[in-house]
Amino acid sequence: MIRALVPGSFDPPTKGHLDVVERCASLFDEVIVAVVHNPSKTPLFTADERVELLEECVAAWSNVSVASFEGLLVDFAQEVGARTVVKGLRAVTDFEFEIQMSQMNRQLSSDVVSLFVATKPEYGYLSSSLVKEVARLGGSVDEMVPGPVGAALKERLQ
Ligand code: PNS
Repeated sequence: MIRALVPGSFDPPTKGHLDVVERCASLFDEVIVAVVHNPSKTPLFTADERVELLEECVAAWSNVSVASFEGLLVDFAQEVGARTVVKGLRAVTDFEFEIQMSQMNRQLSSDVVSLFVATKPEYGYLSSSLVKEVARLGGSVDEMVPGPVGAALKERLQ
């Protein structure tokens, strides 16, 4: 039984994130999308709001759940009994930071294994920060985020 974690900020979740989650849902027995709650940051959406949005987005996949965590990812992984951590990679620029984080996690807990999924090419340009900027400036983000996220962005940024 493999329980995988897909951790992230998800502020907000994009179609690129959801594509990675969908592929994990077909690869692993159970998937937990883990939303980081970092009290020293001021995200556009609170951790609870991000969890709610993600729950709407993953509702069709019965083996996927969503939770938030504060503190170290490896501690959360241990708490929920997951050894596999999956992150999406858009480009080599992502790889540099992701490998550093995965090696740090490995140093903190040799139980945790990090795996990387290449983002679909059509989502390679997507980032939550750019989506927020485009939405803030009145551009359409319909192709970039799931419906509920688009609606939440409109409401939050109006
Ligand atoms: O979506 P992101 O911003 O790439 O996600 C980063 C995340 C949440 C996976 C990373 O910041 C994280 O694991 N934070 C928890 C704190 C932690 O464990 N830090 C040490 C390992 S790098």
